[in-house]
Order: sequence, then C-alpha cells, then structure tokens
Amino acid sequence: MKRLFTGLQPSGQLHIGNYFGAIKPNVDLFVDNEGLMMVADYHALTSLKDSAALAKNSIENTKDYLAAGLNLEHAILFKQSDVSEHTELAWILDCLVPISLLELGHAYKDKVAKGVEANAGLFTYPMLMAADILLYDTDIVPVGEDQRQHVEYAREAAKKFNNAYGETFKEPQEKIDKAVAVVPGTDGQKMSKSYKNTIPLFGSRDEIAKAVMSIVTDSTGDKPANVYAIHKLFKSEAELAPVYEQNKGSYKALKEALIEDIDAFISPMRTRREAISDEDVKAILKDGGAKAKALASAKMADVRKKVGVAL
Ligand code: ADP
Ligand code: TRP
Repeated sequence: MKRLFTGLQPSGQLHIGNYFGAIKPNVDLFVDNEGLMMVADYHALTSLKDSAALAKNSIENTKDYLAAGLNLEHAILFKQSDVSEHTELAWILDCLVPISLLELGHAYKDKVAKGVEANAGLFTYPMLMAADILLYDTDIVPVGEDQRQHVEYAREAAKKFNNAYGETFKEPQEKIDKAVAVVPGTDGQKMSKSYKNTIPLFGSRDEIAKAVMSIVTDSTGDKPANVYAIHKLFKSEAELAPVYEQNKGSYKALKEALIEDIDAFISPMRTRREAISDEDVKAILKDGGAKAKALASAKMADVRKKVGVAL
C-alpha cells in the first residue's frame, strides 16, 4: 500500500474554495489509503507572528478536518511542532542544498519581487517541507498545483542525501488532482482570503447569507453566472435546471435558493464540529504526535548514524 503524506498551514477561517479544493479531496483519499496529515504550524510561523492566532488556528483547522470526516483509522493527524525530528532533518537538508536552488523557490521569489523582506525561514521553507515528507518514506503527496515545486524540492533533497550518504530516502511523487476546479468567489475571481471574496465554510447561516447576497451579478441574461458557478458545487446541473427556469431573472430568489442549499450541505458538518471540544482536538493531536514521533525517530536514528553525529 502507498503511503500518503500531506500538510496544511493553519491559516484560520476556511472558505468553501478550501473545502472543495483541498479538504474534501484529502478526506476522500484517506478512505482507501493510509498515511499522515500534518498541521504545519512551523511553516505558518514564517509569516504569522501572532502567537494567540497561531494556537487558535491550529485548533480550529484541526476541527475543520475532523468535522469534514477525516478517517482517523487511516490517517495519523498530528502537529509539526510536536515532532522535533522535522526541524532536525530540515537542518541536515539545509546543509546539502545550494543557496542557488532555494533562490528559485516561488514563494521566496514572489516576496523579493514585491520588495518585501523575506526571513531565513521563508527561504529554507522547502527544506522543512522536504523533511516533513521524507521522514515517513512517503510515496504520494496530495497537494494543490501551487505546491508542485515544493514536492520537486523534496525529491531533490532525497537525491542529494542519498548521493552523499547512501540510499536512505524514497523519492516522493506529488498527486495533483486536475479535476479539482478553482472555486470562484463572490466577485467571480478565484475565491481567496486575500481577495476578501469568500463564503466561510463553517460560518453561521447569517454569515453565509451575507456573503451570498454580496455575489456580484450583471444585469444581463436570466441566469446570474457567478451565482450559478457556486451553486453547481452543491447541486447537480439537472437539479438546478428547474430552479433556474422557475426563477429566471430573479436574482434575489436564486441567491436565497443558494443560501438554502449551502446551509443544508454544511449543517451536518457544523453540528459535528460543534460536538468537538478544544480538549478533544488536543487529545487527538497528542495521540497522532506520539505515533508520528515513533516513525520519525526511527528514521532519524538511521540518518544520524549516516551523517556521523551518532557516536
Ligand atoms: P487562500 O487563497 O484563501 O489563501 P490557501 O492558499 O490557504 O487559500 O489554500 C489552501 C488550500 O485550499 C490549497 O490547497 C488551495 O489549492 C485550496 N484552495 C484555495 N482556494 C481555492 C479555490 N478558490 N478553489 C479551489 N481550491 C482552493
Ligand atoms: N506548504 C504546504 C501549504 O502551504 C503545507 C505543507 C507543509 C505540506 N508541509 C507539507 C503539504 C508536506 C504537503 C506535504 O499548503
């Protein structure tokens, strides 16, 4: 059986774009496959300096995955900072990778292009992510297109270590689901927290209603394209055809139908989410952390011997 490894940056309130683009595909993969799912809190530290927010986001986003139905029989769910082997291996990989290679990293290059000062953590981010993946002899890394380069870096890091010290790490493969469409936001652009055009995944009915009512519609045609594009995620086109026929040109009624459908879809997950306490999350992460640590420390014992620090 192939081992999966994936990670998510605890970035706070998730939107329905995150759900259809990342959470749902990942939850579905762990139905028939086994592996690890990691809350990448040390990666988040490269940009988030608010300690209360980082702690809260880590708890909230773990709850989101649990509410979405992540199968804990198949997935070890843990927090990066609980397994110190990640930062330890990242250092060893940093000592193998040339600066010129890291300078090609998209996340780093984008910051520099915008004239924003990048910290050293952002610069070496790909080697921490390589360590995450390589520690567990990962076969498959399910990610979005934006993370493709990072998985290439992980392969490169594996090769460099294996060449220097002998065969140790598996070269992982990314799994990028082309069928996952980009979910549009309330203004028709890609839904993204940075564009402030989101519909919150676990928002209250009022918050969902407010976001849906703000969907930009043009005044031509019977079918508001931006409303329909989001509606399609929640109902089949066959189910939607009569609704859009009956309410031709009535954008308000169509938006109300969309609110109803989003709410009906989210409501069972919201109920499940409300039943999960912060203490439950901490216990699940602690358990997952212990399991991940057992695997990671066995791998690191071999790595330490190979590099010459185990006397
Ligand atoms: P944001 O753009 O809101 O900052 P992130 O970059 O944190 O979102 O994305 C987290 C995950 O959700 C990624 O795997 C990304 O591919 C997915 N995702 C984000 N927005 C969308 C969207 N509009 N459609 C599909 N997937 C998305
Ligand atoms: N960098 C990923 C993101 O921003 C999160 C992540 C950290 C990750 N470590 C990982 C994803 C390992 C897959 C595998 O989305």
